[in-house]
Amino acid sequence: MSEYLLKIDRLSASYGDDDIVKDVSCGITPGEIVCIVGESGSGKSTLIKAIHGMSELRITGGSIFFGNEEISSLTVKERKKLMGSEIGLIPQDPGSSFNPIRKLSAQFREAMAGHGMAYDEDRIDGLLKKIGLQQGKAVLGNRPFELSGGMNQRIAIAAAMLFEPRLLLCDEATSALDVTTAGAVVDELLKIRESRGTAILLVTHHLGIARRMADNIGIMKDGRLIEYGNTEKIFDAPENEYTRKLIRDVPRLKK
Ligand SMILES: Nc1ncnc2c1ncn2[C@@H]1O[C@H](COP(=O)(O)OP(=O)(O)OP(=O)(O)O)[C@@H](O)[C@H]1O
Ligand SMILES: [Mg+2]
Repeated sequence: MSEYLLKIDRLSASYGDDDIVKDVSCGITPGEIVCIVGESGSGKSTLIKAIHGMSELRITGGSIFFGNEEISSLTVKERKKLMGSEIGLIPQDPGSSFNPIRKLSAQFREAMAGHGMAYDEDRIDGLLKKIGLQQGKAVLGNRPFELSGGMNQRIAIAAAMLFEPRLLLCDEATSALDVTTAGAVVDELLKIRESRGTAILLVTHHLGIARRMADNIGIMKDGRLIEYGNTEKIFDAPENEYTRKLIRDVPRLKK
């Protein structure tokens, strides 16, 4: 049995002719938090999409294992079965989680039924309030287009947490949130890891968040993972000149 919950081995992926993710290898053990950091366009979301199995993306080399199962060779339909219940996704664009014009209550009801779960508004209410959406279940009467980006982002986070997946993929999960609310989301993600042993792969621009959350950090540049190591080492003794440049002005948040 592999010690890794997720193992990415020499992965390359492309939308068309050129590889966007290039020869990336890394692994996540149960309960571990790994942050991928890198400038805009470096391929962070594409890496997340490759793990999630987005249909527009083609894996051109290497493999992805979830436990002992090679998920990179599954069909999109087969992969979908794992998603939600085993691997949760909080996408970069919160609007993409939901149909913008359908009531959230109907969308939650349908998603929960799809995973064999009874619709439970009080549970959703609890999750929403924990991540700072004080309206709680009252928002379920709305359609996503009627809500702000930050509200939708938190609803997408609650939706991913609802199924208690073993792995959460978070793509800039706090990008649309103010500092206080982002802090509440980070706290909640850390609590979920603590209480349920959820592993988290988090993509972020925000090195302060990476420093606070991550056990290990990977630095991505031009589709490649150019440095990978434990958080302290990345901040205290980075090997790569590019990493040194990235971390130079990071605010020192307490771990
Ligand atoms: N659906 C797509 N079709 C074709 N090319 C794409 C698609 N999505 C992204 N790309 C290209 O892939 C490259 C990497 O994009 P990606 O979204 O993975 O970057 P990112 O690191 O997540 O950036 P950001 O920090 O801005 O979110 C970019 O050059 C982008 O133009
Ligand atoms: Mg992105």
